[in-house]
Amino acid sequence: MRAPPPGTLGEMCGIVGYVGHQDAREVVLEGLRRLEYRGYDSAGMAVVADGALTTAKKAGKLANLEKVLADRPLPAATIGLGHTRWATHGGPTDRNAHPHLSADGSVAVIHNGIIENFAALRAECEHDGVEFASDTDTEVAAHLLAAAYAAAPEGESRLADAMRTVCRRLEGAFTLVASSAAEPDTLVAARRSSPLVVGVGDGEYFLGSDVAAFIAHTREARELGQDQVVEINRDRGVTVTDFDGGSVEPTSYTVDWDAAAAEKGGYDWFMLKEIAEQPQAIADTLLGRLGPQGELALDEVRLSDQELRDIDKIFVVACGTAYHAGLIAKYALEHWTRIPVEVEVASEFRYRDPVLDRSTLVVVISQSGETMDSLMALRHAKDQRARVLAICNANGSTIPRESDAVLYTHAGPEIAVASTKGFLTQLVACYLVGLFLAQVRGMKFEDEIASIVADLRRLPEAVAEVLARMDSVRELGRSLADANTILFLGRHVGFPVALEGALKLKELAYIHAEGFAAGELKHGPIAVIEEGTPVVVIVPSPRSRGSVHGKVVSNIQEVRARGARTIVIAEEGDEDVVPYADHLIRVPRTPTLLAPVVTTVPLQVLACEIAATRGLDVDQPRNLAKSVTVE
Ligand code: AGP
Repeated sequence: MRAPPPGTLGEMCGIVGYVGHQDAREVVLEGLRRLEYRGYDSAGMAVVADGALTTAKKAGKLANLEKVLADRPLPAATIGLGHTRWATHGGPTDRNAHPHLSADGSVAVIHNGIIENFAALRAECEHDGVEFASDTDTEVAAHLLAAAYAAAPEGESRLADAMRTVCRRLEGAFTLVASSAAEPDTLVAARRSSPLVVGVGDGEYFLGSDVAAFIAHTREARELGQDQVVEINRDRGVTVTDFDGGSVEPTSYTVDWDAAAAEKGGYDWFMLKEIAEQPQAIADTLLGRLGPQGELALDEVRLSDQELRDIDKIFVVACGTAYHAGLIAKYALEHWTRIPVEVEVASEFRYRDPVLDRSTLVVVISQSGETMDSLMALRHAKDQRARVLAICNANGSTIPRESDAVLYTHAGPEIAVASTKGFLTQLVACYLVGLFLAQVRGMKFEDEIASIVADLRRLPEAVAEVLARMDSVRELGRSLADANTILFLGRHVGFPVALEGALKLKELAYIHAEGFAAGELKHGPIAVIEEGTPVVVIVPSPRSRGSVHGKVVSNIQEVRARGARTIVIAEEGDEDVVPYADHLIRVPRTPTLLAPVVTTVPLQVLACEIAATRGLDVDQPRNLAKSVTVE
């Protein structure tokens, strides 16, 4: 396996390919719409009709491309490919939008990733007289493919043959999809360290960056491995080889959600729908993992009991919201298993040479399973012989595929860029991993585990209760829409919840926000509080360990004394906070370690409402992509 070297950039582009009997123009455009959530700044498509390739492309959102297509429709076709581009090499302009054509117009290519040796390859093409029409690295692949195609022996899979020849010369991370005017029944794609899935319908075949691209047509999918080339042909179906032409049997799987799951279903935003789906997502993630007596059965964890007993250190590695899930997991994992746990952002992990060996368990948390920083951390951990367990939502994605063991969350598709149900189900999965380890290592009595399992089973209802009371939070959100800064305070597991609340607000509402450990406030941050500064405080249960509850109540008084407008999240029955709360948000009583599952929900709703009131695109915030496949 060849991993891209440190510092590699890639693109988070969306890719769609289709060969079948339907109108490819419609299928490809619809696929691109479903991939919009990935984040992009230009779009394009190509079809093969009457022995010629025709393309249309435009900078900006899909609506711009649709206008181009309305003015100058592509010819009717049953084979096509489409692309949404998130620019890295070359600005987000019409000419840099994909697809890119070879100089003779015979081959069209779309690409996700970075071809790192493109400068040398471009110089070589230019030396041969090729004139480049864009500033992208992608275009070299189109020219090289046309040349390799011309040199390939005549036969059935000439385009696939040419793709293998080209891929052997490319360095970096890439998914490429190509079509040739001379092969109107075939699309060929290649994959290295960038996502690509194949969909198999009834006499029709699809390619997608993820299954959302084709879920409206089929749930049957094929997983592609590293350094593989796939040919989809109207008659021959799906053929997979490695870059040297060796035959490969792809893994088949059925996507366990349907097209309706990827629709807004009457909500204004995907994010609102996904927030509302959280009780079900938690229940689905618990389903099948808990035995009748509360015993845990995690059959996807393919590590032997002995290997699990040998673990003497755990690292949790993730990015963004998933990292916050890891921070919360540390409290539960250490408390239940007594194994030391370190939590680290994936982008830092491998660069500081962490101490890892066979008895280290590295838990990689990723909703998408494609986050490049997390993937690189995983590969580093495996190189150091550590065991890797992935907690992931996207079936068949790269991170679970490369891990020793996997625990899937069953949140269903998460379309909004801001993670909500992904986060809560990651927490639930972390709790399951902690209890599982405690069980296998004999750290807890059966009845203790059964009691925590019973608490876990109550979580869907508790989250539903929180959701039922969100009207006042929405009203509060509307009143905060003009705030310049909002601070979030928490202690113990409430501290990562504060970090997550601040992240949600930043990414959705573009308001400066920071999360603090409430106890740290007096060591500096309290200086920023002035008259009217909104401060959200996540209050631990009065039943929590030590006197942390009382200390947080004191922190609320401290910030209020300095003019803060206090927004307090506290459990039912906690009367101590009442005198100091300008706004009080009640959550159901929940055991301390599990409390983040309920206390996070009002923060999601708050950020969503503030962003919507400010007139922002809640589902696709500026500058962000859903799955960050760049390092
Ligand atoms: C969440 O709201 C963010 N958009 C982002 O931080 C995200 O959680 C992070 O990029 C990790 O993504 P992953 O879970 O797909 O790996």
